[in-house]
Amino acid sequence: MKSLDELLDDLADYVGISESSCVSLPPDAYLSKELAALEVATIFERSWLCVGREEYAPRPGDYYTIDVMGEPVVIVRGMDGVLRALNTACRHRAMPVVTGKGHASRFVCPYHSWTYGTDGRLIGAPHMEGSTVFDRAACRLPEYRLESWRGFLFVNLDDDADPLEVTMAPMGRATANYRIEDQTEVFHYETTWDGNWKLSAENSMEYYHHIGLHAGTVGVQMPAKGTYFPEEPAVDHTFTHERCRIGEEFLGASDHPLNPRGDLGSLTREEKETGYLVYVFPAFTMAMRAGSNNWLSFRPDGPDRTRVLGGYLVWKDLVSSDPETMRARAELIEKVNAEDALATTELARTMKSRKAPRGPLSPFEKTLAQFYAYLGRTLAGA
Ligand code: FES
Ligand SMILES: [Fe+2]
Repeated sequence: MKSLDELLDDLADYVGISESSCVSLPPDAYLSKELAALEVATIFERSWLCVGREEYAPRPGDYYTIDVMGEPVVIVRGMDGVLRALNTACRHRAMPVVTGKGHASRFVCPYHSWTYGTDGRLIGAPHMEGSTVFDRAACRLPEYRLESWRGFLFVNLDDDADPLEVTMAPMGRATANYRIEDQTEVFHYETTWDGNWKLSAENSMEYYHHIGLHAGTVGVQMPAKGTYFPEEPAVDHTFTHERCRIGEEFLGASDHPLNPRGDLGSLTREEKETGYLVYVFPAFTMAMRAGSNNWLSFRPDGPDRTRVLGGYLVWKDLVSSDPETMRARAELIEKVNAEDALATTELARTMKSRKAPRGPLSPFEKTLAQFYAYLGRTLAGA
């Protein structure tokens, strides 16, 4: 196993490297506990991580819990209508005051019945009158940074982080015409894959694998050979992207469920005729077409497991006007995601081989070179 210093040297080499002479990461980068710990401390505990969608908690009192890098978090829409991310540990002796998901006007701790409002305020604590150190106002469930981008919810564990907009603005300009804010989820995806998060990340930023892994599904509509790289906007430290031309027979009105539907008026010709992958560092990705969006968010759980959250979005009006097609799409996307899971779990096994490769990247995988450069800048400080 390479040492952390050796791996950081390797990562630093990607910064400024020509994309056409790029090879994949050293296999140990997907296995090293030391590198995984550094990624958590340097990247995941300081970056905006997508934790779901506003529509998971539409009404005051709706909530769902989620583990964010070991932090027990409840995302709750307060009775005041405000969405918050609260730490679930009771301020008495740390029992989680809420688990799972549901609807509540208050959270009652199952241990000694301390009771909290949906804004985190302590509103009841039985038999505490004689305590000289009990301060009701101080016993509030602590809040994490939570911000929203076009319906997506992001949490940042770093209280001093820049606003989410700094991360999302360049990609947001590039995707403005897609009307992501008008989309709703028709298929939800929440699971854990065996394998390093970077394997999942790499798989979700290139169309090259449409030639193999998705040959029987989305590779039919968007063959890998249609891959190209938009010149605008130039990729920067926040994201990378690529496009893939959709086969002509899948553009017009036909019965295929993936063919574009709905009001396409906001889109340019290029946006109508291509798939568009955007990958926002560190771990948020959207595979878009006119009117649809297959999104995923990754969080590492140690070096060899990846928590996966995602869904398939379509314009809201299509859900009511064309429910059959939307169901067929959701089914197809479920298959595609099962195929993609293999790109993490199968690779996770072979990376352990003493003869695991560092292979040359295709020009269709420039996005990976840019991801590696991002890792080099952030982890190796290069
Ligand atoms: S731990 Fe919650 S009331 Fe005691
Ligand atoms: Fe894929």
